[in-house]
Amino acid sequence: MKKTRQPKWLETAVFYEIYPQSFYDSNADGIGDIEGIIEKLDYIKTLGCNAIWMNPCFASPFLDAGYDISDYYTVAPRYGTNADIKRLFEEVHKRDMHILLDLVPGHTSWDHPWFKESCKATKNEFTDRYIWTDSVWEGPENMGSLHGISERCGSVGVNFFSHQPALNYGYYKTKKPWEQKMTDEGPQKTLEAMIDVMRFWLKMGCDGFRCDMAHSLVKRDENSKGTISTWNKIRKFMDAEFPNAAILSEWGEPDKSLAGGFHMDFLLHFGPSHYNDLFRCEKPYFSPEGAGSAKQFVKTYKANYEKTDGKGLMCIPSGNHDMSRLSYQLKESELPLAFAFILSMPGAPFIYYGDEIGMRYLAGIPSVEGGYERTGSRSPMQWDKSVNAGFSAAPADKLYIMTDPDENRPDAATQINDPSSLYSCVKKLIAFRQAHSALGSTAEIEFVSDGYPLVYRRKDKNESILVVIQPSAKPAEIKAAGEVICSIGKGGSLSDGTLNLSGESAVFVLEK
Ligand code: NOJ
Repeated sequence: MKKTRQPKWLETAVFYEIYPQSFYDSNADGIGDIEGIIEKLDYIKTLGCNAIWMNPCFASPFLDAGYDISDYYTVAPRYGTNADIKRLFEEVHKRDMHILLDLVPGHTSWDHPWFKESCKATKNEFTDRYIWTDSVWEGPENMGSLHGISERCGSVGVNFFSHQPALNYGYYKTKKPWEQKMTDEGPQKTLEAMIDVMRFWLKMGCDGFRCDMAHSLVKRDENSKGTISTWNKIRKFMDAEFPNAAILSEWGEPDKSLAGGFHMDFLLHFGPSHYNDLFRCEKPYFSPEGAGSAKQFVKTYKANYEKTDGKGLMCIPSGNHDMSRLSYQLKESELPLAFAFILSMPGAPFIYYGDEIGMRYLAGIPSVEGGYERTGSRSPMQWDKSVNAGFSAAPADKLYIMTDPDENRPDAATQINDPSSLYSCVKKLIAFRQAHSALGSTAEIEFVSDGYPLVYRRKDKNESILVVIQPSAKPAEIKAAGEVICSIGKGGSLSDGTLNLSGESAVFVLEK
């Protein structure tokens, strides 16, 4: 298949997701900040990650942790200034790393000046920036709406929470008189405005964007055709002006998102990928009982792989700020195996901050800034054994989110010095991936077995590596030839064409 051009750096990218609120507080006000991220860049680099995705850091009333933007062009004062983020880009690049910002193209905050203007009865530049009906008594079909809030007689569609009015990119098929076509002036201006936002940050030095709810732009969108064509226009702009920048979608349907020009899409906890079957369900595949199944995941992955091979990357995250942490439903012994999988699959792997030390999901803690049950995955990074786990010098009751109260909570400083820690294992797996081109983002994959153990072959023109992962406590025996070049857990031994693998282990065989 003809390969689509990708920025070179994506071929070896291993991402680290930073939730800026909770990463490192440099000025003791209880919340993380950009200076704090700069101070911890060497930690990320030493772990082996060479790319970052940072959650939204723009001006916002923070009713959804910053996914409700009120000014796309200004860093939220609580994190620093535009000059600080420019310095962050420079410090990232000095270390030969890359950084994606979080772009929220589908909606703004109801505090955004565009929205305030669009609520006015008199026609103005922003009248069609959002999806308005022509009557306060009728909302748009198939989406939530607000009504009775404006001088204008109309209802406005919302994209997610009620305070996030949906930007207007038009309807693929129009039905009602007030529904606008994608080619109408309002939707065209929205797209121009969003491209302008992207251009602003790319010029300042960021390396691209993770695009929030990327599937959501065009409404009544048969098979996402309108949204795909909208993203292709964005990709065209990027290729022309910033060919080394990348876009990553929160979509979860790579056949569609990559056709829309995205360089990468996530396999996620929602959508049809069966990602949850592996890590987050009643009986996850990664569990010593060996009672889960990877079959549906592998089947879906293969189908997607066939449709998308050469067009872009399907990325598997260890977790993110919207789902419970990896350690929640997996036992401690399974975390290294989950990482052996995540870090040996095609696509760019994503590590959610703190997952590399097995941070816990804090079930039931009070919701912060529209986090609700997601708040439990957003607690402060645990750096060391000092006060507030080394996250902040503020009094504990001033912290943005409470720290894990467990006195045995894991921390980075301890694990860095322990060769048997999860941190050391993750670091070893990243270095191993980077040392073998067959484990890279675009090298081939061929599944050999989707039971227990999970077996797949990664190969490119240089080498072929058989990955064998046995989450079950039972030992396994499979046919293999070559040399074991990396083991996790007790590992296994190869003789006479047979690999004998201990339970809860993973091995990588360099095939001869
Ligand atoms: C997905 C983001 O990851 C999530 O945190 C946010 O609440 C919604 N999109 C709405 O923007």
